[in-house]
Amino acid sequence: MARTRKEPDPRFWKLNRSVSFDTRLAPYDVRQSRVHLGELSRIGVISEDDARSLDAALQVVAAEFDAESFEFIARDEDIHMAIERRLGEICGTDVAGRLHTGRSRNDQVATDLAMFTADRADRAALLLADVQAEILRLARDHAGDPLPGYTHLQRAQPVYLGHHLMAYFWMFGRDRRRFEAARAASSVLPLGSGAMAGINWDIDRDRLAGELGFDSVSPNSIDGVSNRDFALDYLAAASICASHLSRLGSELVLWSSTEFGFVRLDEGFTSGSSIMPQKQNPDSAELLRAKSGRVTADFQALISVLHGLPLTYSKDLQEDKEPLFDAADTIEASLEMLVGMLEGIEFLTEEMVLASADEMLAATEIADMLVRKGLPFREAHSVVGVLVRLCLESGRSLSELGEDELKAVSDLLDAEYFAVLKQDNWLESKRTSGGTSRVSLESQFELAESHLDRTGDDPS
Ligand code: ARG
Repeated sequence: MARTRKEPDPRFWKLNRSVSFDTRLAPYDVRQSRVHLGELSRIGVISEDDARSLDAALQVVAAEFDAESFEFIARDEDIHMAIERRLGEICGTDVAGRLHTGRSRNDQVATDLAMFTADRADRAALLLADVQAEILRLARDHAGDPLPGYTHLQRAQPVYLGHHLMAYFWMFGRDRRRFEAARAASSVLPLGSGAMAGINWDIDRDRLAGELGFDSVSPNSIDGVSNRDFALDYLAAASICASHLSRLGSELVLWSSTEFGFVRLDEGFTSGSSIMPQKQNPDSAELLRAKSGRVTADFQALISVLHGLPLTYSKDLQEDKEPLFDAADTIEASLEMLVGMLEGIEFLTEEMVLASADEMLAATEIADMLVRKGLPFREAHSVVGVLVRLCLESGRSLSELGEDELKAVSDLLDAEYFAVLKQDNWLESKRTSGGTSRVSLESQFELAESHLDRTGDDPS
């Protein structure tokens, strides 16, 4: 830059230079430049000849990036300066220098980043739909297989495996909606904001927006160049999604342990131990569980850069890229892996049935039966508490208690007590919408089916 006579100090340059990571904005930058060039030419700021040779040069640059043959030089500060320098080499600095008319790197980089975010939000939403489809398929396959539901990781009430799996369907549906919202937030065009005050040229921003696939133009140039909310929206969506993946990963780790024995992961998603030959470790599930830390940190990194940052552009904003890139790569790789894991997963339903046949899981059912016979729930709760204690003290199950013993605790404990202890009742009595019974589950599947076919609506 002409104003500065001194070469940048290497200690500064090391931190300032961003080509090692912003290279991946190159395709967006070239696309944006071609559209901007078209507009400059349309309003007569650039001659048709110059526009033609610049456009050809931009295509050469794009091809070089595609072929991974683009060469950076030490003085390239960032991807935008590198491309401008290369255009000068291809079509002469006189011509290349005209491309920056009516555009600042400030609105340029904001536009590139919004284009990147929109693409990646679309991709995450599509991957989530794939995950949801796999979950729905598995849930249908296991609509009638009982397993214990847990609270505090203690056996609580039996549910159908299909019902448990569907909980994740809705979680990922909300994630999809959040990525769609991040996509919409990325569809406001910053280009045309200039450095921060707007530009002196009669550029048609709506036309630029249309050609670049944006829905609208930023209504304020100051906000236009300062805004990174769309990236935050993406990162927030990714963080919440990663926390869902983490909860699923955690359950798969538990369920694949010998202690639970509920699930067998496809071997292709496990690893052996280097010393213990018997081991098959659920590394894929562990990674799903662990990655949420880094995605949340990516959100934290960007919001920390933005908070307290005066308007409009400051170099701080260069720090927006690495967290966004990292979160996008991590969340996409996680979702892709999850699709594969779900394709080959095997649920060991006999183990689940055994575990859910634990009669203690019927404790609430017995209490509800007593309520139906007129007892207030709190009293019913303590009556069943006494029965459970009797069982634990004498090493028996609830159905092994004698009729006289039952009568001594409450005369409402009659033959129906034994009927309730038959497992199917516990599950099939949950017939309210959203409950685990087969009929409720069937309507849940139908609702899920219709949500999978649509985008942009509230999946909850
Ligand atoms: N590499 C910069 C960034 O990513 C581009 C914008 C630089 N603008 C400026 N006025 N220095 O934020």
